[in-house]
Amino acid sequence: MTDSTSQSLQNGKQRNVWWRLLGLIGSHWPLCIVAVVGMALDSLAQSGFIYLLRPLIDQGFSTGNSIGQWLPLAMFGLIVLRVTGNFAGIYTMEWLGRKIVASLRQQLFNQYLVLPKRFFDQHSAGDLVSKLTYNTDQVAHATTNGMITAIRDSFTVTALLVVMLLQSPTLTAALAVLLPVVALIVGVISRRFRKISRKIQQSMGGLTHITDEAVRGHAIVKLFAGQRYEQQRFEQTNEHNRRLHQRLIATQLASSSLVQIFAGVALLLVLFLATQQRFELDITAGTFMSVLGAMVAMIAPLKRLTNVHALIQKAIAAADSVFKAIDEAGEQDNGSHLSCSDGHINFSKVTFCYPGRKQQALSGISLDITPGTVTALVGRSGSGKTTLAALVTRFYSPDTGSVSLDGVSLEDWQLEGLRDQMAYVGQDVVLFNDTLRNNIAYGALQDKSEQAIQAAIRCAHVDEFAEQLPQGLETIVGDRGHLLSGGQRQRVALARALLKDAPVLILDEATSSLDNISQQFIQDALQQVMQNRTVLIIAHRLSTIEHADNIVMMVDGRIVEQGRHAELLAADGAYTALHRIQLAAGG
Ligand SMILES: Nc1ncnc2c1ncn2[C@@H]1O[C@H](COP(=O)(O)OP(=O)(O)OP(=O)(O)O)[C@@H](O)[C@H]1O
Ligand SMILES: [Mg+2]
Repeated sequence: MTDSTSQSLQNGKQRNVWWRLLGLIGSHWPLCIVAVVGMALDSLAQSGFIYLLRPLIDQGFSTGNSIGQWLPLAMFGLIVLRVTGNFAGIYTMEWLGRKIVASLRQQLFNQYLVLPKRFFDQHSAGDLVSKLTYNTDQVAHATTNGMITAIRDSFTVTALLVVMLLQSPTLTAALAVLLPVVALIVGVISRRFRKISRKIQQSMGGLTHITDEAVRGHAIVKLFAGQRYEQQRFEQTNEHNRRLHQRLIATQLASSSLVQIFAGVALLLVLFLATQQRFELDITAGTFMSVLGAMVAMIAPLKRLTNVHALIQKAIAAADSVFKAIDEAGEQDNGSHLSCSDGHINFSKVTFCYPGRKQQALSGISLDITPGTVTALVGRSGSGKTTLAALVTRFYSPDTGSVSLDGVSLEDWQLEGLRDQMAYVGQDVVLFNDTLRNNIAYGALQDKSEQAIQAAIRCAHVDEFAEQLPQGLETIVGDRGHLLSGGQRQRVALARALLKDAPVLILDEATSSLDNISQQFIQDALQQVMQNRTVLIIAHRLSTIEHADNIVMMVDGRIVEQGRHAELLAADGAYTALHRIQLAAGG
């Protein structure tokens, strides 16, 4: 792509983002009208005030003039009008701004709940958090301030120009010569502004990301003496962020300083023209003061107007990143099949490769899981067991081949209905910073009866440790459950899965952190739960799956053998080798 086409694409995209932002504001159009009218009143009142300087100076001070009676009143009226207009205009715009932040945050949050796992594989949590907190705020701040400046200040500049024209067209025309120079400055500076804003947003994402990791991993940081490394990493990004902000401020100051210099030149020009008799402009003291007043009053809005483009660019840069995440396609959910499953899972010639990986995580997987049976997946670390389970829950779809439940391809199931059929305990236990009870009766499980909750708690042996906690089931488990032990966390996750009472139960290393005694207890309790249910167990400790109806041995993403424990031992293959090693190690 040539530079010019990419530039025009870039411009087109920016325009779209801008229109979309305006659309957000425009959806509250009655308030927009209030804001515009308020700001217009503010500008008109200010210009009117300056216009009245001429009669005030030329006639107000001469004796016996009737103007002295109504002029103070008119001027006070204009001040009241200006204050009212300003209040209404700014308040309404700020209201709109906060409304936009709230709405964008909500949209983004909702989106985070439906985005596919693939998306989270590719984005760091810190980046996503910063998008929701920082970028949305940037959008609102830059949009409201940009709009306030664009509307109010352009009204003011226009109205003041009209005042100048009414007072002295010749002087005004002479000043107009300077306008193209101002426009040029605006153009150059706004481009630079946009570039820096984008970089600042990226570095904010970086800051959140590093902080997030250091805070979460604080124990490892301390034990492996990672403080210096983390400090340096943070310092670099922090310093980069500070420099970028400084550059932004320098750009802003450069633009306003230039405008001030041009204002000075304009002032010189007016003074020169007004005081030179040979131009015969016939300027009274009142006219001069009024034009001068208008000019001085114009400096501040002009300065802001040179930055408005930059502000809008900032809004566009921030909005672009927010809209990108909002527009990201959610999980595919085009199927319509809905029923209570009998738990028959079938893999037919499935291959799957993670994006960006060369080696397939699963290849040539054909596996039939009979309803109501227990299937165990075993194999070395990285052999694809968790990936296979992730295809059952439809976190990923196969590249070729298909996975079906009850003979219906998973793609044809309605997604929520499909996941209703499955209970899951993952390798990484996910707990929320809430009470034990709410972690177990989570989400849709809130409606389960107390009896069912108690049964799940007993079955997963949660009661054993819950009784000893000060608040029992009402104890808060801490961020990600860090106030519990690893084995206790697993039992809570297990209780949650058991409470769901779904036809398919997937347990990925669900009892790996438990001591042998607890594991045996849970194993016994699970025996009952597993009846009449399709269970997929992933386990490294082979002793826990010896009684499974089918043991599937995986090597490098392939199924190399399957059968019952005794059959596999008789075959003397990969499973037997693994079994022998574990026996020798005392596992
Ligand atoms: N999100 C991911 N993105 C890219 N590659 C991945 C991802 N998750 C896993 N992999 C890769 O896919 C392969 C299979 O991983 P998987 O997690 O299925 O193994 P596993 O058999 O469950 O191992 P373990 O017993 O250690 O849990 C590994 O090589 C791993 O590096
Ligand atoms: Mg795994």
